Amino acid sequence: MTAADTPPLAAFTRELYRLDDLELGPIGADVDALAAGVAAIDPWAANGISAEAMRERMVRPWPATFRFALRLDGRLAGYLALRHPFMRGPYIETIALFPAAQRRGLARRVVDWMAREVADEGANIWLCVTDWNAAARAAYAALGFVEIGPAPDLVVPGQTEIFLRKILASPPLG
Ligand SMILES: CC(C)(COP(=O)(O)OP(=O)(O)OC[C@H]1O[C@@H](n2cnc3c(N)ncnc32)[C@H](O)[C@@H]1OP(=O)(O)O)[C@@H](O)C(=O)NCCC(=O)NCCS
Repeated sequence: MTAADTPPLAAFTRELYRLDDLELGPIGADVDALAAGVAAIDPWAANGISAEAMRERMVRPWPATFRFALRLDGRLAGYLALRHPFMRGPYIETIALFPAAQRRGLARRVVDWMAREVADEGANIWLCVTDWNAAARAAYAALGFVEIGPAPDLVVPGQTEIFLRKILASPPLG
């Protein structure tokens, strides 16, 4: 097999992605700081997810799951966990920008990067948002996600999650 025949790496499988000043890379030694940072912001804080529980989620081996620390200019800015393949495209299990990194276009850059990664193999991006998380719902609407429907009692009894879909491309014929 020549280099020209080598299939490209599957989506999200590289250790490090550099998007100018934004890096998506290994969590590594930042796991405690990242888990504490995410656990401190809603919806995880409101749902009572401890830093320890968040840390456990970040390190537990799971199939088809890709986890990244987001670093802006080398400084920890947030966390991204993806499941792929999910359903004709990836599922964003967790996206969390630390408060100082919010509303600076990072989620848009992450979603655009995801779309490029799956350009040949996926036509959708999926995620869930808690119904009371108005800020995130507004952000996802601005990013082109459409609310598909409610999933009551999915995460917390009495609380509803909303399933969302962003269409990247029409499905292939046939
Ligand atoms: C929700 C979240 C992921 C959005 O990421 P972000 O990097 O702040 O979003 P961006 O700066 O890329 O903004 C993307 C678009 O959403 C809009 N937007 C972002 N936050 C918004 C808000 N609070 N209200 C209204 N619109 C908002 C932006 O204006 C932008 O649209 P535009 O480009 O048309 O102006 C991030 O704020 C976050 O992590 N919040 C805390 C944790 C959380 O709720 N995570 C989601 C759990 S499902």
